[in-house]
Amino acid sequence: MLLVLLFGLGLVTGRALEIQGHRGARGLLPENTIPAFERAIELGVDVLELDLGMTRDGVPVVYHDRALDPDRTRDAAGAWLAPPAPFVNTLDLAALSEFDVGRVAPGSKIARRFPAQVPRDGTRIPTLAEVLALGKRSGANGVRFNIETKVTPLAPEETARPEEFARAVVGVLRAEGMIDRADLQSFDWRVLREARKLAPDLSTVCLTAEQRWIDNVLRGHPGASPWTAGLDIETFDGSLPRMVEAAGCAVWSPYYREVTAAALTEAHALGLRVVVWTVNEADEMLALARLGVDGIITDYPDRALEALRP
Ligand code: G3P
Ligand code: CA
Repeated sequence: MLLVLLFGLGLVTGRALEIQGHRGARGLLPENTIPAFERAIELGVDVLELDLGMTRDGVPVVYHDRALDPDRTRDAAGAWLAPPAPFVNTLDLAALSEFDVGRVAPGSKIARRFPAQVPRDGTRIPTLAEVLALGKRSGANGVRFNIETKVTPLAPEETARPEEFARAVVGVLRAEGMIDRADLQSFDWRVLREARKLAPDLSTVCLTAEQRWIDNVLRGHPGASPWTAGLDIETFDGSLPRMVEAAGCAVWSPYYREVTAAALTEAHALGLRVVVWTVNEADEMLALARLGVDGIITDYPDRALEALRP
């Protein structure tokens, strides 16, 4: 029984299931902030998951949305932003650094979704370099970074172009000596392809989702999806693992409700690791661990560590 459990959790394969703090630890502290990443490190995550935008002056910054979110962002005077809020790529770093992202708006959808999130007023949007610097502190030397470039082919004017984004991110990773401690993930696989041209050793992660709220695979549509760097799922007999392998990714990262035992087996046979997002309930984490996924991304790294490494 114990052996079955250990096998299910990936421990007898010699590599423990990886626990990733989503946007740091979004269930506990404001997302994509230094306090959230520090907490995730203290808790003992293996990987910090984070999102990137680019400022007008070309600095990769850690923020999820293409435009500032009025439910999470206050101006220098402490007033909540009114929609429509500015796009990150229209602001220089100096202007972006004025905003406070240390609290969610009371009564907002995000506040109801993460009721245990503790505010940290006065928290600024960090740069990628600032977050990577956390990995150099004592006690964090083993932490990796799963860095998502928020690019979409559907709104090219709202972000940096894939080539620019790749150049900037690879530049920061090199400057910080972090190429070998980073995984670069994106729903828009063009940026992964561009990044590998610049840094062939950089591990890349193909994100997939086939949901109403995001579908970057587009099965059944004529031709290739604009998200998948020219690859068409139909030419892989509908197999996502095969398409991900062809894209050059080392990791396949599907929405957790879409992963099946058959697809997992196929991915592993192709040498891919499979990291699912975003799993917040302990019973679902355990079920996925037993299914054999290699990593779990969660807003609640405390729950994941308790459930998976009791
Ligand atoms: O790691 C993938 C996951 O973070 C994608 O979802 O919207 O939270 O960035 P999102
Ligand atoms: Ca993300």
